Amino acid sequence: MTDMFDERHAVVLANGVKMPLLGFGCYQIQPEQTKQSVLDALEVGYRHIDTAEAYFNEAEVGAAVRASGLPRADVFVTSKVWICHFGYDETKRVVYRCLERMGLDYLDLMLLHQGFGDYYGAFKALQELYREGVLKAIGVSNFFPRFLLDLIKFGAEPAPMVNQVELHPYFQQPQARALMVQNKVQPEAWAPLAELKNDILHDPVLTAIAHKHGKTVAQVILRFLTQQQVVTLVKSVHKERMVENLQSLEFDLDADDLKDIAALDQGKPLFFDHSSVEAVDQFYGFNENLKQVLD
Ligand SMILES: NC(=O)c1ccc[n+]([C@@H]2O[C@H](COP(=O)([O-])OP(=O)(O)OC[C@H]3O[C@@H](n4cnc5c(N)ncnc54)[C@H](OP(=O)(O)O)[C@@H]3O)[C@@H](O)[C@H]2O)c1
Repeated sequence: MTDMFDERHAVVLANGVKMPLLGFGCYQIQPEQTKQSVLDALEVGYRHIDTAEAYFNEAEVGAAVRASGLPRADVFVTSKVWICHFGYDETKRVVYRCLERMGLDYLDLMLLHQGFGDYYGAFKALQELYREGVLKAIGVSNFFPRFLLDLIKFGAEPAPMVNQVELHPYFQQPQARALMVQNKVQPEAWAPLAELKNDILHDPVLTAIAHKHGKTVAQVILRFLTQQQVVTLVKSVHKERMVENLQSLEFDLDADDLKDIAALDQGKPLFFDHSSVEAVDQFYGFNENLKQVLD
């Protein structure tokens, strides 16, 4: 079986931790379906699983990792702390609760899910838990450039090692990614298939490239990101699609393909504009709703 931690299939974070380039995402997988989906993903060869307390399936992800029979060190597991648990004391508490819920002794990566609220206090807690070895790497998600750089410069050490953001052919964020790379922050893509928005799997440019290589459009999109050393998360509850997506790592796009796909960038998000004033209100609302159920 492919070694998902070898040079072709993994990146090395600023602190030396290896992270598989393609991960299995668990957003919108129902709790009752999660254990089997993660077991299927691990069986077909994924070694990187992404969840979050706000996905309501951390326990099932942990159960699958434990039931898989794989050595713990062979699976890279990420979770995320939601805004209502930001702040030094709350974040420390919920990281331990997450470990207990997942039945794991450590996490490979813990992220702050959003750049709202007391993320400074929360990140300080992650830094301490990192130093204690409970978290092997720490980072953020949805931090747009100004806030990412602020945390890097003013947020003590270690700096975030990963920033998980919306990235797909229609929203490529070249400047934001360059800033991450310059500051040794690993870019990580969520919704690489744009959750199928804008009929992305029938895009004519992507379809032509897929035909040229005898691949599917999903494989072309995923390889576009991983070939540029962007860690990429993709979700599917269908085993045959899990295999299809994983096999995207085994071919290469050429320079013309990369140029043609780069030209598809529309320069604006398909989901939330985290840098906007409206987003503050929107996420304040999400947080008010979620905090009722998360605790
Ligand atoms: N940090 C954040 O704020 C954030 C936000 C969103 C997502 N994420 C993470 O990123 C992961 C991936 O993003 P996502 O789940 O939102 O979207 P995505 O992976 O872009 O798209 C998932 C959708 O694509 C379908 N699909 C997957 N592979 C396919 C294939 N080969 N052919 C056709 N359809 C296919 C899936 O359907 P089926 O399941 O029916 O196959 C599902 O409807 C998440 O699961 C989560 O871990 C993080």
